[in-house]
Amino acid sequence: MAPRDSAGNLEMNHTAPNSQPGAKISARNVSKIYDTADGSIVALDDFSLDVQEGEFVCIVGPSGCGKSTFLRMLAGLEDISFGSIDIRPGEDPAKPLNSVVFQEYAIFPWKTVIENVAFGLQMRGVNEATRHEIARMWLDRVGLGKFAGYYPQQISGGMKQRVSIIRALANDPEVLLMDEPLGALDAQTRVVLQDELMRIWEETRKTVVYITHSLDEAVFLGDRVILMSAQPGRKLATFNIDLPRPRTIDTMNTPRFAEYRAEIWAMLSREVTRAMEQQQ
Ligand SMILES: Nc1ncnc2c1ncn2[C@@H]1O[C@H](COP(=O)(O)OP(=O)(O)OP(=O)(O)O)[C@@H](O)[C@H]1O
Ligand SMILES: [Mg+2]
Repeated sequence: MAPRDSAGNLEMNHTAPNSQPGAKISARNVSKIYDTADGSIVALDDFSLDVQEGEFVCIVGPSGCGKSTFLRMLAGLEDISFGSIDIRPGEDPAKPLNSVVFQEYAIFPWKTVIENVAFGLQMRGVNEATRHEIARMWLDRVGLGKFAGYYPQQISGGMKQRVSIIRALANDPEVLLMDEPLGALDAQTRVVLQDELMRIWEETRKTVVYITHSLDEAVFLGDRVILMSAQPGRKLATFNIDLPRPRTIDTMNTPRFAEYRAEIWAMLSREVTRAMEQQQ
């Protein structure tokens, strides 16, 4: 079993030890151990998280603390060493359980923008007219309508990232899993896309698990921010972000926003230092 050390395992606010009724995602005591040539690595240790339907949960933590590992396990792309993960399916069996957006926009260079957005629908056997209609609606929504016939190498990084986000949304998954989806972007484009993402989420109210290194992004987007410890990743604290919605870019200029940010940074900065010491 994964080694444990309860010291420093501080819970801010509360997290129910048992699954909450109606949770869309329920991760219970999840651990992940990788076997490598240098021995076992405990990437994630006894991590539990419930996400309610329509909730936007952000996860932050130092590099290497197991965030991507957890997300990949949620997506079913990685085996779980211990514990369990359940995602409650919806009423419509045709809907995919999850769609993932990764940091490196994983879009197909040989497909046009609209074909990329429609890809998930195509995989599910949606006819061409319908999938293009849905894809076009999403492209128009994020201002990419006139780039529908372009290839990825003909559009900018910010546009590519928009394409990978709306491709996931066009799929209409039960839950949306995002691993630093804006991480590769320059600061200005990032702010614009944060705002865009917020608007889309306010309209769709998808259940989202969102990993980011940016505290601004986490506080701006999240209903809750989960702070993870340096490796092995454990849950260190949960912050309920009680900022009114709809949130706009102006939300980031409010004193409450700054307070949340500072409170989380005070704990995160300690973990970042610890993580860097571990790597030396
Ligand atoms: N396939 C793998 N085999 C062995 N070890 C792995 C593998 N994937 C991840 N790890 C290790 O597990 C730990 C957690 O990795 P993970 O990628 O989940 O971290 P992260 O929190 O997403 O980091 P970052 O913020 O840098 O993206 C790291 O120590 C990493 O080296
Ligand atoms: Mg990662």
